[in-house]
Amino acid sequence: MTSFSVRARSLGQPTDHGDGVPARVQTGETMRPSLDEVAAATVTDGKASSAIVVAAGLSKSFKVKSGSHRVLQDINLEIAEGSFTSLIGPSGCGKSSLLLCLAGLMSPTEGTVTVGGSLLSGPPKAVTYVFQQYSKSVFPWRTVAKNAAFGLETAGVSKKERADRVQNMLDRVGLSGFEDRFPGELSGGMQQRLAIARALVCEPSVLLMDEPFSAVDALTRAQLQDLVLDIWREAGLTIVFVTHDVDEAVYLSDRVVTLGRDTEGITDDLSIDLDRPRDQIATRGSREFIDYRQNLLNRVLSQHHDS
Ligand SMILES: Nc1ncnc2c1ncn2[C@@H]1O[C@H](COP(=O)(O)OP(=O)(O)OP(=O)(O)O)[C@@H](O)[C@H]1O
Ligand SMILES: [Mg+2]
Repeated sequence: MTSFSVRARSLGQPTDHGDGVPARVQTGETMRPSLDEVAAATVTDGKASSAIVVAAGLSKSFKVKSGSHRVLQDINLEIAEGSFTSLIGPSGCGKSSLLLCLAGLMSPTEGTVTVGGSLLSGPPKAVTYVFQQYSKSVFPWRTVAKNAAFGLETAGVSKKERADRVQNMLDRVGLSGFEDRFPGELSGGMQQRLAIARALVCEPSVLLMDEPFSAVDALTRAQLQDLVLDIWREAGLTIVFVTHDVDEAVYLSDRVVTLGRDTEGITDDLSIDLDRPRDQIATRGSREFIDYRQNLLNRVLSQHHDS
């Protein structure tokens, strides 16, 4: 059996926001699944697999006025347990749709998604999703502290431990002092940091993040990149991260997967073999980083010019 351990249930994000995303406010479940559940989640056909998330033959079409709009076609993607994978590609190519399918928040039209060997038919406990529209990842009626505590609350974590973990995470995302504010009283960047705190505090097994740093300034972005990397390393998470920023993808990842436009599917899959822990100055200034960045930019730009 692999070392896959389900650390936390999913956050129970706010209810249906349209776009085919099902309602999922969940309450009262325990934090750790039984050993049977973990075993069932880790072994497929008697064999252990190091891929924790697998999309096989995945296609997605949306019903639109003129008929059907196909966005993803025959995507095959395996995400290794404990890895950091970034997903890049032009606007509208289907990155968010793919991530929502991996989270079990959207059903593929064809094909399957498995997490820990189990076929998805809804959002699995081990996966947490941070929405591109960060306001979808927070409850407007809960204060900052209560938002951050939500996943721990529903997982049955004691009041004292909850308070400690929430305070620690709010400190780390720079939101201490704002515990009693409501999301509507925060800036966009602060709401985005709250959404990240809410997700990280639960230490899920798989964290899916859709452009989580799009609304923060450059300095905060660098700090949040390092925070996510620290927690990824400390907690042994598996992260799939959507970004438009080639530098960010190289800095964070073990692997960068590129989606092409118009149902081209996965057009590029690049391993990033830079030393860890990474450093905003030393890593970004290294010859290897610059080579990866140029390589990836060349590939992305050549696809752009070819289209
Ligand atoms: N619920 C929906 N109904 C109809 N079409 C949709 C729906 N959701 C997404 N689409 C379409 O699917 C395509 C892919 O959308 P998606 O949001 O997955 O792209 P994306 O790669 O994440 O783009 P961006 O980088 O701009 O966030 C777009 O053409 C979009 O209009
Ligand atoms: Mg998107």
